[in-house]
Amino acid sequence: MNNKEKPIGFFDSGVGGISVLKESLIVLPSEDFVYFGDSLNAPYGTKDVSEVKRLTFNAVDFLLSKGVKVVVIACNTATSAAIDALRKYYTGIPIIGIEPALKPAVEISRGKSIIIMATPMTLAEKKFSNLMEKYNKEVNIISLPCAGLVELIEDGIIEGHQVEEYLRGKLKDFMHLDVASIVLGCTHYPFIRNELIKIVGEKTTIIDGSVGTVNQLKRQLACNNLLNEKRTSGIVTIHNSSIDKKLLDLSYKLLKL
Ligand code: DGL
Repeated sequence: MNNKEKPIGFFDSGVGGISVLKESLIVLPSEDFVYFGDSLNAPYGTKDVSEVKRLTFNAVDFLLSKGVKVVVIACNTATSAAIDALRKYYTGIPIIGIEPALKPAVEISRGKSIIIMATPMTLAEKKFSNLMEKYNKEVNIISLPCAGLVELIEDGIIEGHQVEEYLRGKLKDFMHLDVASIVLGCTHYPFIRNELIKIVGEKTTIIDGSVGTVNQLKRQLACNNLLNEKRTSGIVTIHNSSIDKKLLDLSYKLLKL
C-alpha cells in the first residue's frame, strides 16, 4: 500500500472527536479513517496533565499500529496537554491538534462578549492563556469550565432535562450580557448544540473548532503529498478502549446524526 492510501488516524478521550470526524467526511470523502476513543479513561479534562500525556501517547501508538499516515488529536484537552511533546517524539508523521476557535469568534463579536466552554484542563493550560492574551484586549472573553458535561455525553445523554439543567446552571450568571458567540472548546460539546440554542437563542452564534482543524488536516495532507486520490468513498473504522459495546454503538449513532 502506498502512503496516500493509508488511513487517517483520529483520537479523542471518548466519543467527542466524532464531531470532527463528521466534518472530515464532508471535506475529505475519499479518505479512510481509523478512530480511537478512550472512553475507558474519559473524562480527561479533570485529570493530571502528566496522566493525559501518557494516555495520549498510548493512543497515538495504537493508531500507528493501525498504519495511519497522519494523526488528528480531535480533543482540545489532549492537544493542550500533549501536542508539543507528541510532535517532538513522533517526527516522521504529521500530527494535527485542535484548539478553541477564538479567532473566528472575535472576528464576528463586534465588541460584544464571547463565552468559551471547555474542560478545566484546556482552560488552565498555557496554550489557552496564549490565545487569551492574543484576543482578550479586543473583546470580553468569559472562560466557562464545564466539568461533568463530557460524562453526560459519554452516557449518550445529549438532549432532555439533564443537559438543559446543566447548561442553565452554567450560563445563569451571564444571561444578562450581550453575548455574540459561544465557542465550544471541547469536541464533545457540538452534540449538545441544540440544547444550547434553546437556552441562548438563535442570535448567539455557536462556533466549534472542527472546520479549522479539518482545513488544517487537508493542507497538511496536500503539502506532504498524502491526499488519497482514489475516487471511491472512504471507510470509517471505530475502536474504543471500553469493552462496553454501547460506546461503539453511540459512536456510530453520533456519526450518523
Ligand atoms: N473531547 C475532549 C476535548 O475536546 C473532552 C475531554 C475530556 O475527556 O474531558 O477536550
